[in-house]
Amino acid sequence: MESIYGKYRDGLAKTLDDLTARIKGYNKAHVEAGNEPLYEHLITRLKSEESMAAKLDERGLPHTPREALAGGIYDACGIRIVCCFINDITENIKRIKELPGVKVVREKDYLTKAKPNGYRSYHLIISVEEPYEDALGNNPGIWYAEIQLRTIAMDSWAALEHKLKYKKTIYDNNLIVSELRRCADELAACDVSMQTIREMINNA
Ligand code: GTP
Ligand code: MG
Repeated sequence: MESIYGKYRDGLAKTLDDLTARIKGYNKAHVEAGNEPLYEHLITRLKSEESMAAKLDERGLPHTPREALAGGIYDACGIRIVCCFINDITENIKRIKELPGVKVVREKDYLTKAKPNGYRSYHLIISVEEPYEDALGNNPGIWYAEIQLRTIAMDSWAALEHKLKYKKTIYDNNLIVSELRRCADELAACDVSMQTIREMINNA
């Protein structure tokens, strides 16, 4: 198969590395200043050529770096920040928006408004200016990334739902759908309680 990312693959990888390093950087500084870490863990991925090909096909777009990287599709670079507490999500969003060269392209708030199936997460789609050419030929280039922010509870629900969904079509079974939604809502209630407990401990 011919590469969709072509000669932009290096730039893509560098962009993901740069963003990740800067997120780890502000967290490190925060911890060194005597605070609790702003997240529990962070994972990154470059969207595989196969997934990108499928996404372009779904949208009827040609398999070119321009279509995959230069606007319209924003998740070639993916970062997932998994936090202990709900308030940490808010703090990370603020810190990311403050990073030099970063601009918000779109925000999807599935925290205050969960998806009908129960999925919760905050999706921050950003652009970032980088000192190398992008797929439109601009230099400095503009690159995109999708940053997902969630709590550990939200992350575990998403992982299990993904696993269940992968095996079988589940969304035509009402009982399964409502049970999954119930689990998501119960976990969300626990997140709120844990946040409250944290505040009680901090204020004690
Ligand atoms: P796509 O990028 O094409 O998926 O566009 P979209 O508008 O559907 O984006 P959305 O923000 O809803 O989802 C993007 C990513 O969020 C997915 O690739 C998943 O990683 C995650 N996600 C969204 N919805 C769900 C869900 O119901 N279950 C799980 N497990 N993950 C989800
Ligand atoms: Mg989707």
